[in-house]
Amino acid sequence: MADEYALGRGYAEATRLNCQHYLWKQSLNYLISPDASLTEPNMKVADIGTGTGIWLLDLAKSLPPSTQLEGFDVSSSGYPPEEWLPSNVKLGVWNVFDEPPESLHGRYDVVHIRLFLVVIDDNDPSPILRHCLKILKPGGLLQWEEYDLHARTVVTSRPSAPRENTQRLADFVKRDIHKWVYTLPEIFRSHELTHVSVLRRNEDLSSSRIFMDLELVLAEEFATNSLDAKGPPESGDEVRKLAKAVYAEVQQGATIRHTLQVVTGRKPCADFDK
Ligand SMILES: C[S@@+](CC[C@H](N)C(=O)[O-])C[C@H]1O[C@@H](n2cnc3c(N)ncnc32)[C@H](O)[C@@H]1O
Repeated sequence: MADEYALGRGYAEATRLNCQHYLWKQSLNYLISPDASLTEPNMKVADIGTGTGIWLLDLAKSLPPSTQLEGFDVSSSGYPPEEWLPSNVKLGVWNVFDEPPESLHGRYDVVHIRLFLVVIDDNDPSPILRHCLKILKPGGLLQWEEYDLHARTVVTSRPSAPRENTQRLADFVKRDIHKWVYTLPEIFRSHELTHVSVLRRNEDLSSSRIFMDLELVLAEEFATNSLDAKGPPESGDEVRKLAKAVYAEVQQGATIRHTLQVVTGRKPCADFDK
């Protein structure tokens, strides 16, 4: 499958991803579910669609040095130089829509995947989920994190603050397309994952301005990489104009309140309780 990524892969986009990582960590209060219990020596963790590798690099600081952390992305353009990675972190290239190589089958104790909303455009995460399950050990933990766009709401700091454009931006993302996010726990169960659990959290209002600035950076990224790139009659101008109007409302106290969702489940194994 061709790489038709709807967002960018330059330094501005990398900065957005890295900033977003710390916001997620602060909002969830963890990087990895406490259920993962990565305390044994020589455990293995994979991060799919790792982007800049920030999740793995941050996680590596809190794990025993024998833990092996391996990140994969269809593009290596956001990776730091290999020579500067901790010795237990490796970053490689893999298009997750392709069958995983046999060397990865059943390899990992934990597989993590985060923010694939723009990658899954047919409302069906099953092909990716199947590949993640293939590389998990029996009994291993899958952790999938996404924004639930269906649940997000517009709020204002004062009742009189303008919010019309912010609401338009919130509605711009066609929610039906992303329906799979809030049905992900059922999708996990239909793939026979056990111990499925869901954590849903809104960001603190004190952090919401930072989330909102990132949302506007994302809107402009989408306008350039997805709409302008298609060429006339498509153009990102309307989205850029909307982003400007939203920014004026944001400065007067409007914001989109996001819902962060983490779904975890275990790959079944013969001697694991269902
Ligand atoms: C929104 S970014 C999220 C990056 C990272 N997971 C994070 O949370 O910071 C989505 C990532 O998925 C990667 N990606 C897109 N299509 C992919 C594919 N088919 N296989 C593997 N990675 C893919 C992109 O290159 C990008 O780095």
